[in-house]
Amino acid sequence: MFFAVFGILLLASQVIAETHSPALNLMPWPASIKPATGSLPIDPTFTVVLKGSDPRLQSVAEIFLNDLRRHTGMLATNLQVATGSQAGQLEIQSNAASKNPQQLGEDESYTLTVTPVKAELTAPTTLGVMRGLQTFLQLVEVSPQGFVVPAITIDDKPRFEWRGLMIDSSRHFMPVDVIERNLDAMAAVKLNVFHWHLSDNQGFRVESKKFPKLQEMGSDGLYYTQEQVRDIIAYAHERGIRVVPEFDMPGHSTSWLVGYPDLASNPGPYSIGREFGVFDPAMDPTRDSTYKFLDKFIGEMAKLFPDQFFHIGGDEVNGKAWDSNPKIQEFMHAHGMKSNNDLQAYFTRRVQKIVAKYGKTMEGWDEILLPEIPKDVVIQSWRGQKSLADAAHQGYRGILSSGYYLDLINPTSAHYAVDPFTGPTASLSDADKQKILGGEACMWAEYVSPENVDSRIWPRMAAIAERLWSPQNITDINSMYERLSAVNTWLDAVGVTQNTQYNMMLRRMAGDDDIGALRELVDLLEPVKGYSRYQLATTKPTSLTPMNRVVDTARPESIKAREFAGLVNAFVAGPIKPGMEAELRAQLTAWKSNAENLQPLAAKSWFVQEVMPQSQNLSSLSAAALQALDYLDRGEKPPAGWEQQQLTLVQQAYQPKAQVLLMVCPAIQKLIQYSAGTQVTELAIPQRAAE
Ligand code: ACM
Repeated sequence: MFFAVFGILLLASQVIAETHSPALNLMPWPASIKPATGSLPIDPTFTVVLKGSDPRLQSVAEIFLNDLRRHTGMLATNLQVATGSQAGQLEIQSNAASKNPQQLGEDESYTLTVTPVKAELTAPTTLGVMRGLQTFLQLVEVSPQGFVVPAITIDDKPRFEWRGLMIDSSRHFMPVDVIERNLDAMAAVKLNVFHWHLSDNQGFRVESKKFPKLQEMGSDGLYYTQEQVRDIIAYAHERGIRVVPEFDMPGHSTSWLVGYPDLASNPGPYSIGREFGVFDPAMDPTRDSTYKFLDKFIGEMAKLFPDQFFHIGGDEVNGKAWDSNPKIQEFMHAHGMKSNNDLQAYFTRRVQKIVAKYGKTMEGWDEILLPEIPKDVVIQSWRGQKSLADAAHQGYRGILSSGYYLDLINPTSAHYAVDPFTGPTASLSDADKQKILGGEACMWAEYVSPENVDSRIWPRMAAIAERLWSPQNITDINSMYERLSAVNTWLDAVGVTQNTQYNMMLRRMAGDDDIGALRELVDLLEPVKGYSRYQLATTKPTSLTPMNRVVDTARPESIKAREFAGLVNAFVAGPIKPGMEAELRAQLTAWKSNAENLQPLAAKSWFVQEVMPQSQNLSSLSAAALQALDYLDRGEKPPAGWEQQQLTLVQQAYQPKAQVLLMVCPAIQKLIQYSAGTQVTELAIPQRAAE
């Protein structure tokens, strides 16, 4: 399947498949790849030679070697950088320095050639060198001779110039180490924009020296000092990542109003928001004092954040604060404004002038796309691809986020299928298509803490990174999942914690080291999808609710359930291959005793007790599926009523409990239907998000 997509590469890939097993685990998949024979050893004397005049190459090479040490377990005294005419195993040549601050659209292409004797990496700019070095790191594999990189030639360049991840540091504060390790992982999959959502109702997260009550009263003490912000920007820059700050206004702004209630449309006092959703408070767009404040504030932040782009949010203003203030109504009337949209457009135009005054290009969510907004603003589309198409058609540059919301807990395949150039954007003219800069995934932080945020971003983000970097025809789902699995493990060495924290959280919930049965169950569970976590909760979650339960631990996508479904799909499609049924039986037999095996932990832990109904369902469904196989083996039709009874059980088992879903239900339904000789159908996921 994997090789079939790359038809023309079939022959060459077979060569590599023979000499190197498994196949190349590159993600994003490069634009062009020609495997060769043999491999280059990575041994403790491995030396990097720098060619090219950019002094920055030295630190780029040091960061690379540090990464290589993490991927191989070698020491700081191993793996060196040399310059000039010295010999080495990896020669790096950058033809020009990249810019500081990094600019949108800089050349990121590179060529990497590896032979059994040496590797050469050349790029028009140092940014291309960074991208090529990440490819080199992904090529490192273990062999009978130790670590090697397979011989290969790769010519690569990105499809889109804007490939981003947004992290919401407001709803839950994400400390510096969380941001830095995620920047490392972003660099590892060639992302180039970190969009930092720094203020919202639940917290104002940056130190302002001009308006210190913003962080002092709006953050619970959880904010980044300007020094930390500068460090993070430098850290990102060293990895080829731009940092775009977002200060959300005029809505999503309650945390500003705690210290500065005069900014608001209604009298205070205000307190930090704890709940989630759309809040009523909004800044007052009718008063000059609001713009005086914003001028000073944006001036300060425009200096702190060197990027060309400055995001002002602009989303989800419900207008209630404006409707209820007679002075605002009078103002609107006097200026011939017929709707709150007109008032928001007025606000946006005035703020845009301020942003432009400080030399920046304004960016905002698609709600800012209102009449008379200057054409140089960038629209971030979150409400659907149509708004991206509309923006491009009207001459605005845009980036796609709709379809890339990681907080909706959708499977990787769903995000992977979303392309900035399909759907309503597909019919745009080539000139309009040029306006679409790329895409950005969004990690909204209602339900993530510093502890589990990585598990909601990774590894799914890597597949979105591929969508934004690789050629449009790289779409094979099976190949993606195969490589994603390897990249997920590889990311452990990069430093993100989606795998390590999973085990830690399981042990903590169990109060025990022996987590085999709990892990067996949680491996098959996923958090409920979309916004149903909020809808299902009997006590509404807030930013103070602990995130230490199974729903916070279970991965967004159960790979075990996906693999089991693959096996069942093959089994019911036939012809049945030898060993298939034995594999199904072994799996089902293990799951059948889950409830019994988990009971001792449930007896001592509330967290385990909470998912015992899921465990009991897993056991009963596995028993039903084994019965189904028995009927098939005996060539017997199940007795009247059996199928209906089992299907009812499956339906019930697939309902959310403790805000998690048991993901083996659809496959088990298929086994039951198959043995009963009825049509095999796909069970729809309950409470699926509107995407
Ligand atoms: C958004 O999700 N309100 C941008």
